[in-house]
Amino acid sequence: PPTKVRTICCIGAGYVGGPTCSVIALKCPHIKVIIVDVNPDRINAWNSDDLPVFEPGLDEIVKQCRGKNLFFSTDIDEAIRQSELVFVSVNTPTKTSGMGKGFAADLHYVEASTRRIASVATSSKIIVEKSTVPCRTAASMRTILDANSNSVDEDGSPISFQILSNPEFLAEGTAIRDLLNPDRVLIGSLDTKEGKMAAGALREIYENWVDGSKIYETGLWSSELSKLAANALLAQRISSINSLSAICEATGADVDEVAHACGLDKRIGDRFLKASVGFGGSCFQKDILNLVYLSESLGLKEVADYWQQVITMNEYSKSRFAKKVVQTLFNTITMKKVAVLGFAFKKDTGDTRESAAITLCRYFRQERALISIYDPKVSNNQIYLDMTEPGVIDDGAAVRSQVAICDNAEDACRDAEAVVICTEWDEFRQLDWQRIYGRMKKPAFVFDGRGITDANKLRSLGFRVHTVGKGPQIMDPIWA
Ligand code: UDX
Ligand code: UDX
Ligand code: ADP
Repeated sequence: PPTKVRTICCIGAGYVGGPTCSVIALKCPHIKVIIVDVNPDRINAWNSDDLPVFEPGLDEIVKQCRGKNLFFSTDIDEAIRQSELVFVSVNTPTKTSGMGKGFAADLHYVEASTRRIASVATSSKIIVEKSTVPCRTAASMRTILDANSNSVDEDGSPISFQILSNPEFLAEGTAIRDLLNPDRVLIGSLDTKEGKMAAGALREIYENWVDGSKIYETGLWSSELSKLAANALLAQRISSINSLSAICEATGADVDEVAHACGLDKRIGDRFLKASVGFGGSCFQKDILNLVYLSESLGLKEVADYWQQVITMNEYSKSRFAKKVVQTLFNTITMKKVAVLGFAFKKDTGDTRESAAITLCRYFRQERALISIYDPKVSNNQIYLDMTEPGVIDDGAAVRSQVAICDNAEDACRDAEAVVICTEWDEFRQLDWQRIYGRMKKPAFVFDGRGITDANKLRSLGFRVHTVGKGPQIMDPIWA
């Protein structure tokens, strides 16, 4: 395999490939980085002032490197030919049909990229799986490469490919921070001389800014599985605390106090225990479903059931919250205006994939509520797209008659009966609640799905407030 990397090609200019390879370009000025994509709109956006991905700090890095050692292009073949190392960062969504439907990852984008590399490569390359893939994907890539690639280069020397697994652990909204200062970098390779050499070449790239002790080399399969495992363990913490939030609400315990009390034990730790309306994002659900599918196909039904429960609990968190809204508004929200604040799956991103807000709005639509939505970063088109049921003819028109999108939070709340907070955007902590109260229907309700408001302060203004995981405000009469 190549031992010195001068040019890197990244296939897939999305949430993973874009930020990751921009940071590599920033930290390795001696390496040329070409990010390619089949989607010309995406590439045009990366080449404009309006990047297709919003991440704090990303704009500055792209501006600094673009045109110097960072390039965005649709010429995939040329970029592959030029490079010694190719990152595969294409999407791997959950399959929506066929075998493993609803669970297995759809690998046809990974396969297409691999075939492309095989057919155009005229020199040896290191191929790096960046996308989250099911365990043993590298084996399929190997088979495709072996069956389809040129066997010798222009000078007649044999061509070889080494496949590495180098999963990305960045979280959206903090991508740049996570990339600049990662907890660890994981590099999986075959345990052969060539495999280790390829891993060494990738290690060298990261060592331009990451301390060598944080770079952990493992076997290929461990690396592939660790990515799924890490996300499953993180999601499990959220489902665990969300399950406890239901007990808190029923008993009068306060989930923040419970989480803090538990988190003080170092074995448990205090992070990722924030109760919420439910987790979203492109990774957690997809990766757990993937793990469930893997377990099932290995004949490990109990293991599959165990992880499936994390998803089931998340669906329950969302439906329980939606039900609370309907019940509290006297069992009907039909034709009532409900303001939804936040549509992204978390703050500081414009990404809505698997966002809890989508599920909640679906419930509200089924109850025939009138919904007004405000999110600081999600485009109107994206919201309408997410709200439209695929396959329902004319649903678009129906959505537009039922859903309004507003330019700011106060407009969304005007004349509403209830405000539902779905995303923890910082600006929602600073709203002028007094003014909002004055313009809402009464009684005015706030449902805080993220625990970001000061409920007592809102109550003093006249609001009726429900926060996830906070017990009833009116105590049992025996305590009154
Ligand atoms: C996640 C992993 O954190 C990251 O390491 C991996 O590489 C990709 O998947 P991401 O999906 O971008 O990152 O966001 P994350 O911060 O993990 O949040 C996921 C969801 O969980 C969000 O909807 C968030 O609001 C929710 N969440 C997170 C909670 O509800 N409570 C918490 O305590 C933490
Ligand atoms: C536990 C809690 O740790 C303690 O805080 C609480 O006050 C009482 O219950 P204990 O049951 O004494 O303490 O032991 P602990 O160290 O938690 O181990 C419990 C079991 O889990 C043991 O069988 C141990 O072997 C097992 N264990 C623990 C594992 O299998 N893997 C681990 O990583 C940790
Ligand atoms: P992720 O969050 O995993 O980065 P995205 O959907 O944001 O997912 O990005 C994946 C990108 O990969 C998309 O922009 C898509 O157009 C691109 N892509 C998918 N298949 C190919 C392919 N065969 N060649 C080049 N780009 C591809």
